[in-house]
Amino acid sequence: MTKNFKRTLITTALPYANGPVHIGHLAGVYVPADIYARYLRLNGRDVLLIGGSDEHGVPITIKAKAEGVTPQDIVDRYHKIIKDSFEELGISFDVYGRTTSEIHKQTASEFFRRLYDNGKFIERTSMQLYDPKANQFLADRYVTGECPHCHNPRAYGDQCEACGTSLAATDLINPVSAITGNVPELKETKHWYLPLDQWEPALREWILEGHKEWKTNVYGQCKSWLDLGLQPRAVSRDLDWGVPVPVPGAEGKVLYVWFDAPIGYISNTKELLPDSWEKWWKDPETRIINFIGKDNIVFHCIVFPAMLMAYGDNYQLPDNVPANEFLNLEGEKISTSRNWAVWLHEYLRDFPGKQDVLRYVLTANAPETKDNDFTWADFQTRNNSELVAILGNFVNRAVVLTHKYFGGLVPAAGELEGIDRDVFDELGRIRGALTESIENFHLREGLREAMNIARLGNKYLQDTEPWKVAKTGDMARVATILNTALQICANIAVAFEPFMPFTTEKLCRMLGLDSLSWQELGSASMMTAGSALGQPELLFDKIEDEAVEAQLQRLKEARRQNALASWKPAPQQTDVDFDTFMKSDIRVGTVLECERVPKADKLLRFLIDDGLEKRTIVSGIAKFYDPADLVGKQVCFIANLPARRLRGIESQGMILSAEDRDGRLVVIGPTAPVAPGAAVK
Ligand code: MF3
Ligand code: ZN
Repeated sequence: MTKNFKRTLITTALPYANGPVHIGHLAGVYVPADIYARYLRLNGRDVLLIGGSDEHGVPITIKAKAEGVTPQDIVDRYHKIIKDSFEELGISFDVYGRTTSEIHKQTASEFFRRLYDNGKFIERTSMQLYDPKANQFLADRYVTGECPHCHNPRAYGDQCEACGTSLAATDLINPVSAITGNVPELKETKHWYLPLDQWEPALREWILEGHKEWKTNVYGQCKSWLDLGLQPRAVSRDLDWGVPVPVPGAEGKVLYVWFDAPIGYISNTKELLPDSWEKWWKDPETRIINFIGKDNIVFHCIVFPAMLMAYGDNYQLPDNVPANEFLNLEGEKISTSRNWAVWLHEYLRDFPGKQDVLRYVLTANAPETKDNDFTWADFQTRNNSELVAILGNFVNRAVVLTHKYFGGLVPAAGELEGIDRDVFDELGRIRGALTESIENFHLREGLREAMNIARLGNKYLQDTEPWKVAKTGDMARVATILNTALQICANIAVAFEPFMPFTTEKLCRMLGLDSLSWQELGSASMMTAGSALGQPELLFDKIEDEAVEAQLQRLKEARRQNALASWKPAPQQTDVDFDTFMKSDIRVGTVLECERVPKADKLLRFLIDDGLEKRTIVSGIAKFYDPADLVGKQVCFIANLPARRLRGIESQGMILSAEDRDGRLVVIGPTAPVAPGAAVK
């Protein structure tokens, strides 16, 4: 059980407002955080779930530049999309703020100023990459180059995504400006650094000694950072988008986005509770939990805690940082720039009313201990054979049978038999296992336990067969069975509330329950005899093949667009000697006839006037042409290839085509009419 804290402050990584959120964000951060927050609320605990958009940083300015709009336009657009879609998915934020808000700018400024005044920074002048054409220093994503560790040619100035190493722009081999494509110069500039090395002993003790219970992926990453030795880290940048550095001599400089963003957790708490926010941050009886993805571990476990320690004033460090690994999509890494993602706002549009299906699938596949894969086939199967066939089916049977035999009134249970008592014993076991799983952030395991309640219900109805008992006229026994089945339904309502709040809401309507509490889990008396059920509603419906097919089509199109965007001409072939080349006899011919080859969807049969006679050539371009359009055209062909049989037709040569970047073949011919048989030189 949770130690006896007075309150829990749950934060969720602030997503960059440079694009909508996708299933990777959801599975890694927002769905688990929401499950945990709802669970604690059901336990009657004092909880805040803090969220907001991260609206500074280079990716936003790059996107603005690319679209010819201001960074403010970009963040206004995506903040709204993100905030609305989270709400629709039922992420129960108490506040969803933004780092461009006044209160955030003040809070972040004041935070910096206090560290500055108390001598917690070191000032350093150094040579940094500068793009004279753009008249700008190149920090972070403004510069790309070769990673000095893994030699990925497209590493960024702050990080190499191939090997995960965090970098300084000046570490890159052969750096190139992302703005102009120019090779940058070095230019002197001054910045403020947080001397992380000075905080290393305190961090070691706090994490390595004090938090051995953290997830192994989190603990391990922290340990390897600490073992490598921490270095001072710049907390300012030469940029015009961000919170201005609030000290003299800092014109044109803003706070580094990773300095201001985590302070956003504090500003958003302040925005929600202007008078009482402090107890959520400075009282040792508050427990802080940061939900993040694995790429954020160093910032939440090392950098931000060092900032908080440097600030002092009783700021509390997180008690746990349950970072998740990544979710892939159909076997490939999710990528915003490659549009390889399932975007939340699009999902909500394409699957209206199916928020809980997504929440369920993402939790069942949560990348808790290793990267995991989302596939549309799995999404469909989990909906159809788990939610519809197990959960929905059980609840529906219990409610429909109660309407049928007892006019929709909860029947009173008589004396319980062994099989009924076994149900409540099992519910008690599940309650323990489920509670334990959620407390330890093992949410997939927790969901499995919750689902076991529905499995238990189905088995119970299967074993007791109340429809058969009714035929014998023993309605007292039917009453006991259905009372038990309805108690199982009520247990489902409680157990699933954190995971699938919309389903629980529907279920409560059907059962006539109006408030739930986690303490009731396992109970045999949540449903009161004589109370009325609502009308049966289906909790889930089947997802058809067409719906899934449409999503796969969208991904296929994204893949095609990516292939086009990354297409490059093939490297030149090895040299051919001149005499060999001259032996190829390439000529122009006029197309006399052209038609499809029956039962061969790729092939066209040509009859060509080659100036000497008529020759037949078969060519694999049927997908790209209407044969009638080619009749009368002139084409180039190789005349002296040995004849080949294709689908029973003897092909006497090869028509030349160019293969475009999308794989389309375009026939090559002269740009003005020539005599058939003219040689190509
Ligand atoms: N915007 C960052 C990302 O998407 C996360 C910021 S978390 C915060 O990786 F702590 F800085 F807010
Ligand atoms: Zn690398």
